[in-house]
Amino acid sequence: MYQVYVRSFADANGDGVGDLAGVRDRLPYLRDLGVDALWFSPWYPSPLADWGYDIADYRSIDPAFGTLDEAEQLIAEARALGIRTIVDIVPNHVSDQHPWFRSALASPAGSPERERFWFRPGAAPDGELPPNGWQSIFGGPAWTRTDDAGVPGEWYLHLFAPEQPDLNWTHPDVWAEHEDVLRFWFDRGAAGVRIDSAALLVKDPHLAEETPQYGAGEHPFTDRDGLHDIYRRWRAIADGYPEPRVLVGEVWLPDPDRLARYLRPDELHTAFNFDFLGCPWDASALRTSIDTTLALHEPVKAPATWVLSNHDVDRHVSRYGRDDTSFSLQARNHSQPVDLERGTRRARAAVLLTMALPGSVYVYQGEELGLWEVEDIPAALRQDPIWHRTGGADPGRDGSRVPLPWSGLEPPFGFSPPAARTEPWLPQPKEWRDLTVEIETGDPDSMLELYRAALRIRRAEPGLGDGPMSWLPATSGVLAFERGGGLRCVANLSDGPVDLPAAAAVVLASGPLADGRLPADTAVWLRAAPGGS
Ligand code: GLC
Repeated sequence: MYQVYVRSFADANGDGVGDLAGVRDRLPYLRDLGVDALWFSPWYPSPLADWGYDIADYRSIDPAFGTLDEAEQLIAEARALGIRTIVDIVPNHVSDQHPWFRSALASPAGSPERERFWFRPGAAPDGELPPNGWQSIFGGPAWTRTDDAGVPGEWYLHLFAPEQPDLNWTHPDVWAEHEDVLRFWFDRGAAGVRIDSAALLVKDPHLAEETPQYGAGEHPFTDRDGLHDIYRRWRAIADGYPEPRVLVGEVWLPDPDRLARYLRPDELHTAFNFDFLGCPWDASALRTSIDTTLALHEPVKAPATWVLSNHDVDRHVSRYGRDDTSFSLQARNHSQPVDLERGTRRARAAVLLTMALPGSVYVYQGEELGLWEVEDIPAALRQDPIWHRTGGADPGRDGSRVPLPWSGLEPPFGFSPPAARTEPWLPQPKEWRDLTVEIETGDPDSMLELYRAALRIRRAEPGLGDGPMSWLPATSGVLAFERGGGLRCVANLSDGPVDLPAAAAVVLASGPLADGRLPADTAVWLRAAPGGS
């Protein structure tokens, strides 16, 4: 599954912003890469307070990206190349420019229009304090006070930016509207949806304060039990199509048992594996994460997913090049030195490790080129509300959203056509001249050719598909496991080279072997010789 962040993929009309025409031009590239599906981050009309995750109209395409007609053509053209399309649905909140919220603001306190959201009077005698102490995930209070023609009025809830008011999922209109939106895209050929912030929709009706500890399902706005009714309903809709549609959840939850509940047979099909994404480059931590992942999916019979990067996290080449290779949204840290050579070597090994595991793999655009997190974007060019709302204390996500380098030796590296007069919406590092699609194509040592080879083999080898995996004995710091058809993966996360089994043929390696030994930070796919050990 390949994640397309349209704004940064390819710009066909020269305005410095990626668009659907740019994606359509590059569908052959995606076919040759070997992906099965595209997941598009939101492509709907949006005032861009959160770069598309603030949606003003769920049934249309942002004019900067193109038209609904083009989206339908894109879906059909991709399908003709064997690639399905997953669209991003944002059910937790809408844009403050969405007609519902505009009419809520134009209506008085207590009106039916306001009931679709969380409007409340403020605390304190004159209502000048927020109704409770909940904090926005983007920094600052989760409440903003309305201004009713110059008179301070009620407050409304927004777990993200103030321009993203939260919907009230106890309201029947909210249910009906989202069910209709699902059908709208399924009827236009979408093969499924990625559900944004999927564990946040349901709130405690009493708006209880957060406390340091909770029993399962008792947090006031995360992972509440009422969510499952919503997803059961959505699953029935998805299953109602002759070719059933797929539901992919963005569910950030530390507790694997709670996560598994979303994947029961009548709920979501899959959920992103954020535990694996945040895991440090450490053999025993990764092994634990893999085991936990497989164990949580087994009872519900859902496929596991493996994710290394996305548009919200630091790109993994950079993460793996730091001293602290773990990642957490709560502690994004760009003050550490990054060894890009080491990070790249590990990222190459990581992709072979990941693609040998049973389940689906998510590739975030640009990781196949070995792009790194751009950490030095000048303050004046920063776009992410996280950066702005935390006063720069959190560097935010711009560094993973920089437009892709396609060709040439200078920015915009073919991202925009040669005649374009507008710069890309985020600046590209000049060093990316060595990471363009053009330069990597045909270079057997490039990240791109490694991804292409790995995806080709993964598709061709039934043993790398669904089915069991079993760990093989290995020295400390080494992960070794076997899949079907005698295929093995060995990843060396230790400090020095290790021996490989003698009677095994190398199918694919993430880097050169040294006298037949597997160097540090290198992984290999092997085929055991019949009768070998
Ligand atoms: C999800 C998206 C992120 C967005 C947030 C609010 O976490 O992946 O990009 O900012 O939800 O919609």
